[in-house]
Amino acid sequence: MLLSIITPTYNEALNIEPFILAIKKTMKNFEDYEIIFVDDNSQDKTYEVVKFLSKKYKNVRCIRRISRRGLSSAVIEGCLSSAADLLIIMDADLQHDESKILEMIKMQKNYNLDMVVGSRFLKKKFTSALSKKRNTISQVANWLANKISRVHLSDPMSGFFLVKREIIETHAPNLTGLGFKILLDIFSSVGNKIKYKEISFNFKTRMFGESKLNALVVWEYLLLLWETRFGKIIPARFLSFCAIGGTGVLAHVMILFILIYHDFSFIASQSIATFSAMTSNFFLNNILTYRDRQKKGIQALKALIVFYITCGLGAAANVGIANYLYLGKLNEVSITWYISGVVGALVGAIWNFLMSSMLTWKVR
Ligand code: GDD
Ligand code: MN
Repeated sequence: MLLSIITPTYNEALNIEPFILAIKKTMKNFEDYEIIFVDDNSQDKTYEVVKFLSKKYKNVRCIRRISRRGLSSAVIEGCLSSAADLLIIMDADLQHDESKILEMIKMQKNYNLDMVVGSRFLKKKFTSALSKKRNTISQVANWLANKISRVHLSDPMSGFFLVKREIIETHAPNLTGLGFKILLDIFSSVGNKIKYKEISFNFKTRMFGESKLNALVVWEYLLLLWETRFGKIIPARFLSFCAIGGTGVLAHVMILFILIYHDFSFIASQSIATFSAMTSNFFLNNILTYRDRQKKGIQALKALIVFYITCGLGAAANVGIANYLYLGKLNEVSITWYISGVVGALVGAIWNFLMSSMLTWKVR
C-alpha cells in the first residue's frame, strides 16, 4: 500500500463519516490508501462509529486504546500499525485541508523528501480559524520550539504532515510520545538530518465537536520542550513530579501554620497537613504529570491509596537516610544538617517518583 492516513480521535463521532467522504472525494481515482483512526476509548463511542463505517468503507480501520490518553502517542501507535510507504497525519475534525494530500504526495516523490509539513504560518502570521489568544499562544510556542528544541519550521505545532514510514519506524524508540506535539517530537529526535519541505494550508474552523486542547496542554508542551532538550539528564516527568512536590511542601507548611494557630495539637496538625499535601500532590500529578494515564472514579481512589502507602514509605526512607548521614553512621563523620536533609529528600523524591510511575500510574 502506498499511503496510510493516521487520524487520532477523541470524541469525534460526528466527524468520522464527513471526514471519510472528504478524503474519498479528494483522492478521486487514487485508491491505494487506507484510513487508520486511533481512538482513546471516547465517551461518545467514536470507535463504534468507525468500526460500523468500516463495513461500508473497506479501507477504514480503527485502533481502540483503553486507559490511555494523548494525541502524540495515539499517532505513534497508528503509524506503527501501518505497512504503507507513506503516512499522512491529520486531525479528524476537518480543520486540516484534505485537498492538499495529493499535492503533498507529489512533492514527496519529486524531491524524494522524508517529510512534507503542512503549515498554517508559511505565508502569513495569523490564522483566522484560531482566536486571537490561541494565535498569540501559537506564536510564543513556535518561538520556544525554535529556541529550546532548535526546530526550524514556520509551524512546528502543525498536526498535519506527510512522513515516510521508514522514518517513524527507525525513530519511534526515541520519540517521547508526550503531549500533543508529535511533529516537534519527531523533528527534535531526528535532528536536522531530515529532508523536508513545507506546504501552506488554510486551517479551517471546526464544524462538530470541540477542541480538546485546554490550558493543561501548555504544561504538557513545556514538558515536551524540556524532554527534547534535557530529557536524557532529567526526565520531564520527574521535573513535573518534583515541581508538584514543591507545591506540596508549601501547602503542608501553610496548613500546619493555620492549624497550630487555631490551637490544634502538633501531632494532629502535622497529620492533617501531611495527608492534605499528599492528597493535593496526588490530584495534581494525576492531571499534570500522568495526564496520559489519568485515573478516574474508583480507579482514582485505589490509586490514591497506593500513593499514600508508597509516599509514606518514601517519607520514612527520607527521614531514615537523612538521620543516618547526620548521625555520622556512614563513615563516622557527621554530615552537615542541610546536606543530610537534601540527600534524604532526594532519595525520597526518587523513590516516590519510581513507585508512582511503576505502581500508582502504571501503564496497563
Ligand atoms: N486518540 C486521541 N487521544 N486523539 C486525540 C486526543 C487524545 O487524547 N486529543 C485530541 N485528539 C484528536 C482530536 O479528536 C482531533 O482529531 C485531533 O486530535 C486534534 O485535536 P483538537 O482538539 O481538534 O485540537 P486543535 O484543533 O485545537 O489543535 C490541532 O490543530 C493544531 C494545528 O494543526 C492539533 O492538531 C494541534 O496539535 C495542532 O497544533
Ligand atoms: Mn481541531
